[in-house]
Amino acid sequence: YESVEVIKSILHYCAKDLNHILLLISLYFASAWSAQALEMSVGKIPFLQAVNGSTVTLPCTYASCIGIENLYFNWQFNDNGTMQKVCESVIPSEGVVPDVTIFRERVEFVGKNHHNNVSILLLNITFEDGGQYTCFGRNPKEHHKNHSAIFNLIVVDELREVDNTLTIIIASAVGGAIALLMGFMLLKNFTLFVLTKLEEKNKECLVTSSGIDNTENGLSGSKADSKPTPKKK
Ligand SMILES: *[C@@H]1O[C@H](CO)[C@@H](O)[C@H](O)[C@H]1NC(C)=O
Ligand SMILES: *[C@@H]1O[C@H](CO)[C@@H](O)[C@H](O)[C@H]1NC(C)=O
Ligand SMILES: *[C@@H]1O[C@H](CO)[C@@H](O)[C@H](O)[C@H]1NC(C)=O
Ligand SMILES: *[C@@H]1O[C@H](CO)[C@@H](O)[C@H](O)[C@H]1NC(C)=O
Ligand SMILES: *[C@@H]1O[C@H](CO)[C@@H](O)[C@H](O)[C@H]1NC(C)=O
Repeated sequence: YESVEVIKSILHYCAKDLNHILLLISLYFASAWSAQALEMSVGKIPFLQAVNGSTVTLPCTYASCIGIENLYFNWQFNDNGTMQKVCESVIPSEGVVPDVTIFRERVEFVGKNHHNNVSILLLNITFEDGGQYTCFGRNPKEHHKNHSAIFNLIVVDELREVDNTLTIIIASAVGGAIALLMGFMLLKNFTLFVLTKLEEKNKECLVTSSGIDNTENGLSGSKADSKPTPKKK
């Protein structure tokens, strides 16, 4: 019976591992698949702070491993929750400069699909231009799956140094806190290490001293033993 139980538990564990392996394989294929799909990107820093009246670029590029064909793209502006189209177009293939329909004033399509660039330019920005812009793309090769990336434009009347000092203060405070935490962890680990070492030392000391005690006891014991003998006499 015991051996049956052991085999059962081994099989149980194998099945568990098999599940894990299957999960890993499916995850691997899922990531490989998603890497093939279209990707819209607004760059590493998805926001910009700019002064009113200036001209800004809203960056966006697309990437696709399976290639594009009649890629539909648009830029949308989130105006109090309602999405307003800024511009839209269909790109027949990579490298072709598309005809772009523009719905807003002071907007230019500057990406020109050059190296998959679909960036736009906003001229003489006003405070009303500030907000969330979505770069949207859909590749018919992918069964009309939607892809998008969001860029935030913050319009200010002057670039304030205060904001920068505040972020620096926050950053340094966070950095300091992290350093402190790490220092604390290191100190804790070091203290624990020292403590365990000390404990080991202490144990050794206890063992050796008790060993000495034993011999002493033994000696005194033998002395004690030898003492009563005269008493018995
Ligand atoms: C920006 O806005 C401020 C405050 O409304 C105004 O005084 C300034 O003239 C504006 N600058 C431009 C370039 O429009
Ligand atoms: C958006 O909301 C703000 C404040 O809630 C309001 O002043 C503005 O007129 C709204 N804009 C539009 C286009 O509805
Ligand atoms: C896209 O085009 C704009 C305008 O020409 C340019 O400023 C930007 O750097 C380009 N972006 C990339 C990723 O090439
Ligand atoms: C932008 O503003 C400048 C002056 O500030 C003006 O000459 C120019 O025509 C404006 N451009 C647009 C597209 O409104
Ligand atoms: C993709 O976006 C369009 C709007 O452009 C929408 O009608 C459609 O339902 C979306 N499809 C999916 C799968 O989200």
